Amino acid sequence: MMKPPVRVAITGGAGQIAYSLIFRVASGEMLGQDQPIILNLLEVPQALTTLKGVMMELQDCAYPLLQDVAITDDPNVAFAEIDYALLVGAAPRGPGMERADLLKINSEVFKIHGKALNEQANRKVKVLVVGNPANTNAFIAMKCAPKLDPKQFSAMMRLDHARAVNLLAAKVGVNVSAVENIVVWGNHSANQYPSIAHALVNGKAASSLVEQNWVENEFIPAVQQRGATIIKARGKSSAASAASAVVAHMRDWAMGTEKLVSVAIASDGSYDIPPGLVYSFPVTIKNGEFSIVQGLDIDKFSRSRMLVSQKELEQERDIILDLLG
Ligand code: NAD
Ligand code: LMR
Repeated sequence: MMKPPVRVAITGGAGQIAYSLIFRVASGEMLGQDQPIILNLLEVPQALTTLKGVMMELQDCAYPLLQDVAITDDPNVAFAEIDYALLVGAAPRGPGMERADLLKINSEVFKIHGKALNEQANRKVKVLVVGNPANTNAFIAMKCAPKLDPKQFSAMMRLDHARAVNLLAAKVGVNVSAVENIVVWGNHSANQYPSIAHALVNGKAASSLVEQNWVENEFIPAVQQRGATIIKARGKSSAASAASAVVAHMRDWAMGTEKLVSVAIASDGSYDIPPGLVYSFPVTIKNGEFSIVQGLDIDKFSRSRMLVSQKELEQERDIILDLLG
């Protein structure tokens, strides 16, 4: 039997990621084939004409699950009564930029969107921030939405997680499905810490299958730099893979997973990460709630890498606390 429809807002609807994401969401890939959807697409006024074209294409797909689609440049309209917010809309970085360079440009966007979510969204809305710098933008939106529970906010690390899984699988010569328990800790930045310390390949410790030298000098830098490498190759930032990661992140959040996945959420103090910082942890998901996997051993090497990411996030937080006033 069909469920009642849910409302999903996607910001940056005329952008690259959205051009892949919108169609996957509307086809039922994210929330299931029994879940009708009403889509609200948000853009800046200058991009509304392009967005109208995207909407026409969406209509031409004749997706049975898509009950309605609306386009707007007003966040208060886009976020009215929504159950899911996919906050993609933001400036992307270009060649030579670090994600932190986007902080000032994009912080204003997430301040406005946080406030609109606070007033307009369903009280149980689930919010995923994709626009960079994703962790700190999620922190901003969360702070600007005091009527919502901080647990309703997350930032996307699923693309980093998938990159790490793929690289390890390729190195060991197995299918990606053989890899479990990869963790990407920290910030979605060049200081993230993709860790194989607890990873298993076909049930065997990954650390027994690869050299530590490869982990430190090839694997970690490759995952950290993958976004920049794609920008260099494509001249634009990753889009289809980012959309795929959004679908996986939200599907698991809505439907649950016992598998360990990497998600950036407000720290509860686990692993000595300062409470409130939006930091990526290993999580499992049940009944729509993230649980940080407890009790993983953190060796000296891992702790030093985790700390670098923590410090970077603390710096970003301090910059925006000034901006937030
Ligand atoms: P894009 O430039 O193609 O699209 C972004 C769209 O957002 C544009 O159409 C723009 O008009 C719109 N936009 C800007 N401000 C807006 C606002 N206030 N309200 C609504 N829409 C607004 O960029 P993209 O390639 O789709 O990337 C979007 C963001 O996602 C970038 O910040 C990028 O760096 C980030 N990203 C994150 C990840 C991740 O893993 N977290 C991965 C890839 C890209
Ligand atoms: C990515 O990781 O591909 C995105 O965050 C885009 C970027 O700026 O690297």
